[in-house]
Amino acid sequence: MADTKRHVLVCNNVDCRARGSDAVREALCARVAAGEVTNVEVTAYPCFGGCDFGPNVVIYPDKCFYSGVSEGDVPEIVAQLQGGPPVTRLTGKVDPMTEELIFELLDAGLV
Ligand code: FES
Repeated sequence: MADTKRHVLVCNNVDCRARGSDAVREALCARVAAGEVTNVEVTAYPCFGGCDFGPNVVIYPDKCFYSGVSEGDVPEIVAQLQGGPPVTRLTGKVDPMTEELIFELLDAGLV
């Protein structure tokens, strides 16, 4: 996956923002800007449909759907982007059908 650009999509809709998604996105952007990871783009995403479980963050094409993400989780997400393992404790909170729909949309090129 070394040559594949990876996307970190951070929900910026109302529910996730109310729970702190802006701080998560800003922290991720700061780590990318500092050069801690390369070939990674952090982008605000309009809503993943898992609004009750946010802040939600999707790593693509890894297909990791993270929920309840806080600024404190950012170092582990960055470590994943550097080649580390997925942060499994942030997974599995959203309905699998919702996750699959999002991944299908992203596969269709809607990144
Ligand atoms: S508000 Fe974030 S998933 Fe809908």
